[in-house]
Amino acid sequence: TRPLLIDTDPGCDDAVALALALEHAALEVVGLTTVHGNAPVAATTENARSILELVGRTDVPIARGADRPLTADLNTAEHVHGEGGITGDLPAPTAATEPVEAHAAQFIVEQARRHAGELTLAAIGPLTNVALALAIEPDLPDLLEEFVVMGGAAFDPGNVTPLAEANFHSDPEAAYRAVRDAEPTIIGLDVTTHATLPPERVDGLTRDGPLERSLAAWPTYYDEDQLARYDIETAAIHDALAIAWLVDESILEIEPYYMTVGTDSDIARGKLVCDAIGVTGEEPNGAVALEADYERYHEVLSASLERTLSV
Ligand code: BDR
Ligand code: CA
Repeated sequence: TRPLLIDTDPGCDDAVALALALEHAALEVVGLTTVHGNAPVAATTENARSILELVGRTDVPIARGADRPLTADLNTAEHVHGEGGITGDLPAPTAATEPVEAHAAQFIVEQARRHAGELTLAAIGPLTNVALALAIEPDLPDLLEEFVVMGGAAFDPGNVTPLAEANFHSDPEAAYRAVRDAEPTIIGLDVTTHATLPPERVDGLTRDGPLERSLAAWPTYYDEDQLARYDIETAAIHDALAIAWLVDESILEIEPYYMTVGTDSDIARGKLVCDAIGVTGEEPNGAVALEADYERYHEVLSASLERTLSV
């Protein structure tokens, strides 16, 4: 099994990603770190705790992280994910999921050192905690086996500005730092906008009970306007695609590129810039997912959610 630390801002699609990661036998989730993003960090932390309670994984430690971007103003997305940043039928967290004392950035560094050379870090929210962890431990990338990021739009349009994707746009300075220094594998909007769960597969999850209602609600969090904008039938479950790739590499086609992130206060702020044809002459500093096998993704995700429901 693969030790995995997830930095997250749940978030409906984060919740699906967490359900998948917490269930799958190929992954051993060593902790969750929370960050501002879809909602303020107090809410995303509470949501992460409730998710652990809902799926019966109160053994997984949680570390609470940054309540604001490095320099940008806080910008949350309850208008997309619902009040408090999530839908579903979540229990109030209990003492069993009380966050550890360490800040998320410190916790990331501790876990990377503990599982040196073996840990996968999956960042599925704004990159503030990761940037802070890099400031504490500049050798973090060498300690990691893999650093996968749901964020950015390499060649596709953005979802919060014409160019920028939400996680990168929420903290462009942190995204810049993570892309420059941490050799990310980028799972961006190029592949995640169409990473939905088809209606018939969502219907298959609809049963009675808080877990059942939550698993059926999370993949359908978009309103009519969002569905029309992206021409999809159910919501984009961006974050779950990054986790699905960790359990089945054949889901994504990935190519190395030189990348950076726009930080000027202009239209390109938060834009993932990908040197598509090598004009900079720079060596690749990461990789980008370009194509996805959505059939396979649906299979991996549905099977996992079904198993979550059957325990
Ligand atoms: C990303 O932004 C958040 O709203 C989602 O949870 C996902 O991580 C998609 O742009
Ligand atoms: Ca997220």
